[in-house]
Amino acid sequence: MTKPVRKAVFPVGGLGTRFLPATKAMPKEMLPVVDKPLIQYAVEEAIEAGIEQFIFVTGRGKTALEDHFDHTHELEETLLGKGKTDAHQVVLDLLPNPGTVFYTRQMKPKGLGHAVWCAKELIGDEPFAVLLADDLIKTKGDCCLKQMIKVHQETGGNVVAIEEVPREETFKYGVLNVTKDDGRIAQACGLVEKPAPENAPSNLSIIGRYILQPEVFAELEKGNLGAGNEIQLTDALANIIPSVEFRGLRFEGRRYDCGSKLGFIEANLAFALDRDDLRDGVEKIISELTSK
Ligand code: UTP
Repeated sequence: MTKPVRKAVFPVGGLGTRFLPATKAMPKEMLPVVDKPLIQYAVEEAIEAGIEQFIFVTGRGKTALEDHFDHTHELEETLLGKGKTDAHQVVLDLLPNPGTVFYTRQMKPKGLGHAVWCAKELIGDEPFAVLLADDLIKTKGDCCLKQMIKVHQETGGNVVAIEEVPREETFKYGVLNVTKDDGRIAQACGLVEKPAPENAPSNLSIIGRYILQPEVFAELEKGNLGAGNEIQLTDALANIIPSVEFRGLRFEGRRYDCGSKLGFIEANLAFALDRDDLRDGVEKIISELTSK
């Protein structure tokens, strides 16, 4: 019997340099896709997947994130006073239950592996999820994390979301060295972080959703530096494969890389085109802009 996944870690301590100057005073994870910040999509996905505790690994300049998931009494009273009950409900609906949100500071952005390690004491000895808010995933049925939790219930071990990427883009991702592959779930005997296309063992790449066993903490504790001189989560997961099996799930859905400008613009268009109140207007704008 695998233990249930009750806790999720949201690493939000990165600098977001690809979005400067927008991210100079505002966290990247607060960038909105249409009218909702990226981090809220990730938290909603976790709630849908049954997560009960939400752990944010923050850093300097990230207080806007904490404020986002808290009451804003002045705003709430003003909205009520003006009779804007719909908007009032929108700001109430996004609040997680009291006592379920935890914050810890990374203090220095030493890499994703280090950010996850910072949540060690809050996780304890149980499997947990990691969601990177800048990978925004749109699904028709179950959200991505729910699909992964179903797989984890059957297989245990480490389970990540994977995607086939063009060969020339492997240098952006953690890539699987696959031993078994049934077309949906790929089992790996090794992982390489950000390999050059000619060195990549496959084109199956890890994207920003993980279900991890607590054994990863002891490996991260070693503080080994990898690609970019950062403590890489992928390296730690690769090193423990002999004791913790590693599987990648080709999830059903579409991922938008909102850490890149084009991916972010694409996500805004896709999510706007999916909204009844915006579709016609957006189609008109696109057609006018592209006909020139
Ligand atoms: P990225 O690799 O996209 O880095 O991090 P970044 O700093 O956010 O953005 P760029 O590349 O400079 O534009 C992926 C995720 O890991 C988190 C980020 O906040 C993001 O959610 N992260 C990264 C940390 O929490 N701490 C780190 O030290 C590095």
